[in-house]
Amino acid sequence: SSSNATIVLRGDQPGPVISKNIYGQFSEHLGRCIYEGIWVGPDSPIPNTKGYRNDVLAALKTLQVPQLRWPGGCFADEYHWRDGIGPREKRPSMYNSHWGGVVENNHFGTHEFLDLCEMLGIEPYICLNVGSGTVQEAMEWVEYMTSPASSPMANLRRANGREQPWKVPYIAVGNESWGCGGSMTPAFYADNYKRYNTFVKNYDRDLRIQRIACGANGDNYEWTETLMKEAGRNMHGLALHYYTLPSGSWRGKKGSATQFDEAEYFATLRNTLKMEELIAKHSAIMDKYDPEKKVALVVDEWGIWTDVEPGTNPGFLYQQNTLRDAILAAINLHLFQAHADRVTMANIAQMVNVLQAMILTDKEKMLLTPTYHVFEMFKVHQGATLIPVVLASPDYVVGKEKIPAVSVSASRNAAGKVHVSLSNANPNAAITVTCKLAGLTGSAVTGRILTAPAVTSHNTFDAPHTVEPAAFDGAKLAGDTLTVALPAKSVVVLEL
Ligand code: AHR
Repeated sequence: SSSNATIVLRGDQPGPVISKNIYGQFSEHLGRCIYEGIWVGPDSPIPNTKGYRNDVLAALKTLQVPQLRWPGGCFADEYHWRDGIGPREKRPSMYNSHWGGVVENNHFGTHEFLDLCEMLGIEPYICLNVGSGTVQEAMEWVEYMTSPASSPMANLRRANGREQPWKVPYIAVGNESWGCGGSMTPAFYADNYKRYNTFVKNYDRDLRIQRIACGANGDNYEWTETLMKEAGRNMHGLALHYYTLPSGSWRGKKGSATQFDEAEYFATLRNTLKMEELIAKHSAIMDKYDPEKKVALVVDEWGIWTDVEPGTNPGFLYQQNTLRDAILAAINLHLFQAHADRVTMANIAQMVNVLQAMILTDKEKMLLTPTYHVFEMFKVHQGATLIPVVLASPDYVVGKEKIPAVSVSASRNAAGKVHVSLSNANPNAAITVTCKLAGLTGSAVTGRILTAPAVTSHNTFDAPHTVEPAAFDGAKLAGDTLTVALPAKSVVVLEL
């Protein structure tokens, strides 16, 4: 079957800049994200540069990762940065209580993380330990990383081999302080936020650190209300965490990453669309206290969370990644872009081998997931100007429920190129999209598509190219009308 959608691209209306930081990622000391996924150590037989895997470095370079969050997550509020500096063989080990109860040898620490960011042109986003740390420890870490002076912490950094301070533009004050970060009430956290933040100093004249407060768990609007009221003037960003669970519940099974029927596929996308309501309602509260939208809504953990791959450590959160995840990623990125005036930063969880990962590794092997390909196809939107869109989509109906089948976003970059990204969630029907260009001119259209035989299709270490972008010739441009034959279960990016 087939159906029709209409879109108007309002190139005649102003739009905000789409912050490149919406395309941020998250790397926690969790499972095989850091160790094996990014860091194998300089003595590994796996080809590496100073300990970082070469294959992963190259894949991340292509992706143009704008900013990267580290060291957690729940891990951040148990992390003591001094254990992760100095000669590696002398660093003390620690117990990773949240993630599999494994022993962490601290071989990947501040220098290893910040050097990685520098090598790849990524802006670091560091989460301070508020839950089990001290104000002094947090203050000294910021000095260690960013001070150009001849001060005690800067000199300790120099003694460890790094002369110049690093640029660390984003600092988070604790993670999930309502939960694993300390089980705090919003009022208690707001006070702690202000206390810690007071001692996050700008040591470097050329660096104004952006401070991000711990935000709500999903629909906890009271958290946002209290934080904005008590500390909104003291922050640049307020976080939000929302994960998409296929089952919709943290109790019992969440659902398999690769084996699901159409009802579960539909439920997953319906659950992911909750992000729209969350952004709208948290933004409305922020608007009350910050009508000029100076404080960013920072969605610094998002993505699909399924059951782990059978036979793997449940504490490692290792899951496969299908075409479903690609469509889910496209929908969320479109939502962030639609709210680009408030959502200026986001971090998918996580970068390698954990949750909705870009990259999976198995010893010396590596594969790129369908989600990686969406981030790669969508990088054309980074830093471009949003073109407002008006969409009328056919419904995708399963049983008694429906969601819009089509999701869309468009932007114009500095060179004047227009990019339109589209997804069709319906796995059974192609959609003819008629798109009117208002105040835009294009002479030709080219495109790329990501699709596969089934929504459960995924890449494996033996067959890593099952879900990959291909050239798309289903778009035609005639005057001010762009017509797109959008295949079932696909993500498309067009350039005009
Ligand atoms: O991303 C995995 C975990 O999910 C993070 O450590 C925590 O912040 C969240 O609960």
